[in-house]
Amino acid sequence: MSRLYLLSAVGTAVAFVAVAAWAQTSSGDAPAALAAPKAPASVTTIAQGEDLYAANCASCHGAKLEGQPDWRRRLENGRMPAPPHDESGHTWHHADSDLFTITKLGLSAVVPGYESDMPAFDDILSDTEITAVIDYIKSTWPDRQRGFQAEVTASDEQGS
Ligand code: HEC
Repeated sequence: MSRLYLLSAVGTAVAFVAVAAWAQTSSGDAPAALAAPKAPASVTTIAQGEDLYAANCASCHGAKLEGQPDWRRRLENGRMPAPPHDESGHTWHHADSDLFTITKLGLSAVVPGYESDMPAFDDILSDTEITAVIDYIKSTWPDRQRGFQAEVTASDEQGS
């Protein structure tokens, strides 16, 4: 677990400035992430999440969760492209509460002052719908990523 974590921490720092900034703030006075509503993911929820993903997220994150081309390279406007949500990205490095908060309130909710093209969905999707989209994304991951993310979520919930 610790080696796995270290590897992913290195990859994250190299690949993604936002997460590095976030890691710096998380030990300080970063705003607490919202608790994601708890409901077991059912086949129906995941199917709903898939439709909601296609309608709300696929235009940027890709129909197959593949992200925007060249997603590690900063755009001319200084912002980052949309990363993949499949196992090649780092969505699976984040606890449920962070994924929920980012989707509901945008990245600046976890990295104060951070400018991003990721919209906040709090006026567009209900909490249940946001959870369904995240459950759908999680359902596409291989066991390793799913297991890792479950551990990150468990330790996040113990710490809060
Ligand atoms: C208008 C384009 C756009 C749409 C639509 C969009 N996103 Fe994003 N999203 C982004 C961008 C750009 C980033 C990377 C932000 C950055 O680093 O500045 C991002 C980042 C994220 C992250 C953080 C990923 C990570 O690895 O840190 C999550 C989670 C996320 N989006 C979820 C969603 C979900 C769920 C939806 C649909 C409900 C969605 N996004 C719709 C553009 C978009």
